[in-house]
Amino acid sequence: MDIIQEIAELKAARNAVIMAHNYTLPEVQDIADFSGDSLELARIAADCQAKVIVLCGVRFMAETAKILSPDSIVLHPAPESGCPMADMADPADVRKFRENNPDTLLIAYVNTTAATKSEVDICCTSGNAEKIVASLPAGQKVMFLPDANLGGNLVKKLDRPMELWNGCCPIHNRITPDDIRQARQDHPGAVVMVHPECRVEVTALADEALSTGGMLKFVADSPASEFVVGTEIGIIHRMKKENPDKKFYPLENNPVCEDMKKITLDKIASVLRDLSCQVQLDEWAIAKARKPIEKMLELSK
Ligand code: 13P
Ligand code: SF4
Repeated sequence: MDIIQEIAELKAARNAVIMAHNYTLPEVQDIADFSGDSLELARIAADCQAKVIVLCGVRFMAETAKILSPDSIVLHPAPESGCPMADMADPADVRKFRENNPDTLLIAYVNTTAATKSEVDICCTSGNAEKIVASLPAGQKVMFLPDANLGGNLVKKLDRPMELWNGCCPIHNRITPDDIRQARQDHPGAVVMVHPECRVEVTALADEALSTGGMLKFVADSPASEFVVGTEIGIIHRMKKENPDKKFYPLENNPVCEDMKKITLDKIASVLRDLSCQVQLDEWAIAKARKPIEKMLELSK
């Protein structure tokens, strides 16, 4: 039996759904029941009735699914695949900051560990960060963590001061203004999109700064036919599949998140066979980390 057929049979036998982030390998996206950005995956997990969720993405995404769907068995087929940015906000450091700054509201990008989420007031994703920050009362002191690039882009766009944690996505942070200039020179008619995890001086040169889900929607709705894609290259698979008549160009810099590529069809079949690689969080941790995520879902309706 081939691996795709085996996954389909195991999935039916286990009453499982497969969710995949937009950066995962093309063959993983192709067998997923749902593909999406962090916000879309969180919303699907919150509504999910399936007995088993196979979360194809990095660890914080699998933890978020478990937090929002605690009665489901959540399988993370590559438990070693983390997000380096999530590890830049240590929960003990965040707690210390909170103790020293009791009147500051803590907003955590969803790219954080469950332990760090337990220490903050609200979560956000790149898809709803603008709406969430804009909803806060003027004058409220805010610490935004861990992505200083996403935070810096929000400060600029909303003209709202916030303290920024010293963290970033190493993949998006490597994209430079020269990469954007080069792309414009190579593809003069194309719309230039970047992810808001890029540096402020990079987003300033782009036409659009959007979450991965935002990019997919923008491309589908746009009358333009050519796009420069300033984010992890995995998303180009879905863009081409959903828009066969449009053209998509990666940056020369070729941003690849190796952690996202660790999920393979073999590993998905393996966890469905023996229900291994279950996300384990104790009830107390789930209850604490759930609050800022629920607040986020409420504010971004
Ligand atoms: P999105 O929520 O835009 O998919 O971003 C997640 C991520 O990890 C980007 O690097
Ligand atoms: Fe984390 Fe960056 Fe990979 Fe996204 S692309 S999962 S932020 S390391």
